Amino acid sequence: MKSRLQDIKKEAESEIPSVMSEEDISSIKVKYLGRKGILTLLLRELSSLSPEERKETGKSANTLKKWIEDTLNLKQTELREKGIESLKKGFFDITLPGRLPDIGSIHPLTKVLNEVVDIFIGMGFTIEEGPEIELDYYNFEALNIPKDHPARDMQDTFYITDDVILRTHTSPVQVRTMERRPPPLKIIAPGKVYRCDADITHSPMFHQVEGFMVDKDITFGDLKGMLELFVHQFFGKDIALRFRPSFFPFTEPSAEVDIQCVICKGSGCRVCKGTGWLEILGSGMIDPAVFSYVKYDPEEWTGFAFGMGIERIAMLKYGVDDIRLFFENDLRFLKQF
Ligand code: FA5
Ligand code: MG
Repeated sequence: MKSRLQDIKKEAESEIPSVMSEEDISSIKVKYLGRKGILTLLLRELSSLSPEERKETGKSANTLKKWIEDTLNLKQTELREKGIESLKKGFFDITLPGRLPDIGSIHPLTKVLNEVVDIFIGMGFTIEEGPEIELDYYNFEALNIPKDHPARDMQDTFYITDDVILRTHTSPVQVRTMERRPPPLKIIAPGKVYRCDADITHSPMFHQVEGFMVDKDITFGDLKGMLELFVHQFFGKDIALRFRPSFFPFTEPSAEVDIQCVICKGSGCRVCKGTGWLEILGSGMIDPAVFSYVKYDPEEWTGFAFGMGIERIAMLKYGVDDIRLFFENDLRFLKQF
């Protein structure tokens, strides 16, 4: 047995120092130290020796076992380090931290639109939508703005044909909804609208949210109450607002709502054109003429309507002083929201 141990030792010392790969290491481990490895079997036979011999051979066998284990472990560490070194010299550095994926954020206009819609849904309104490519009839005619009416000049229209246009406001959804559904109604209609108009507070494409309510005995007080509630929920309780008499062909009486300019706090700046106020919406009591287009009886039903500009209130809420920032897709701007 002593000489067998000598043979195993020789063999191990000649082959182990030259292992080159992780596969070599594991096959050598199996060969010597596995369940049926040659050294394992020899160790198992020790019990057949006399106590004297067992002590001596056992000691050498264990020393050899330890040497094989240590050498293989050392080899393994060396190989791994060499692997990392060669990767480092190669085309990438695995020690660099990983690159974080760029995660998108919600566009500020979408955020504001959702907030506005949520507030009105909380007041019991439901959502309707209409087409962006609209008939002249719904955008103007049925809103009491006939073809030669001077009020058409209030909105610079993109014409597709004489009768087909890009809608200039969300008010045509009032007519389309009332045509389809009997009163009472409590509707908001968010969407894109288009006007030939561009400066720091006007964009050729922008968003409006239309709101309207038709029922028995609706008064201007209902309109005022709901808009006040909206402004206070959206901008906060301390924000000043004012109702300013105005004109729209489809409402009578009409009012525009201004809120205090949050950029200059009312002292006057280029955004509010020095007035200290910014118009956020148009509103009024639905004109009986509009009811007659949709065959509602104006003796029985009354209603209010309003239409607000989403970009405008987003500018006020976040102190943005140029509407074009919303559409330039500059991530440094968009990521702030
Ligand atoms: C209207 O569009 C009416 N349809 C509103 C209305 C609805 C009145 C229902 C009565 C009843 P006006 O043209 O003022 O009104 O526009 C409404 C809001 O849209 C404005 O207060 C403003 O906030 C916004 N707005 C108008 N033009 C632009 C533009 N070019 N860019 C960005 N926002 C605009
Ligand atoms: Mg206006």
